[in-house]
Amino acid sequence: MIRHAVDAREAAYAPYSQFKVGACIRTASGKLFSGCNVENAAYPQGQCAEASAIGAMVAGGELIIVEVVIVGSGDELCTPCGGCRQRLNEFSKSDTPVHVCGPEGVRETFKLGDLLPHSFGPNNLDKKN
Ligand code: THU
Repeated sequence: MIRHAVDAREAAYAPYSQFKVGACIRTASGKLFSGCNVENAAYPQGQCAEASAIGAMVAGGELIIVEVVIVGSGDELCTPCGGCRQRLNEFSKSDTPVHVCGPEGVRETFKLGDLLPHSFGPNNLDKKN
């Protein structure tokens, strides 16, 4: 999964921040979906790597995330932004592991529920899909 995230990160389009990110998601059926950040000259239109990976997952017919790998840039931990915690929460459980990695390997692993405690999620709504 780290290799897939690193490969996606290489392809990232981040001409404004120069901060490339790759993500890889494993689903309940064992499939892997990767994505990278895609920035835009209209800055708010930029998209995080996690959002790209989730889009690929849904297009691939999968809806259950069981493991997440994120590879950012630099030496700091690249934990998912607030919006992406919410995006991941839509398709994950609170104990779903989120591995924050560098190219060298896992730096720290978090449970999604620790990154997004007391979340508002699908359980709050009458989900029909
Ligand atoms: N970014 C991600 O793609 N995922 C994260 O988890 C954190 C931040 C992107 C958004 C933007 O393109 C760049 O990193 C700098 O914020």
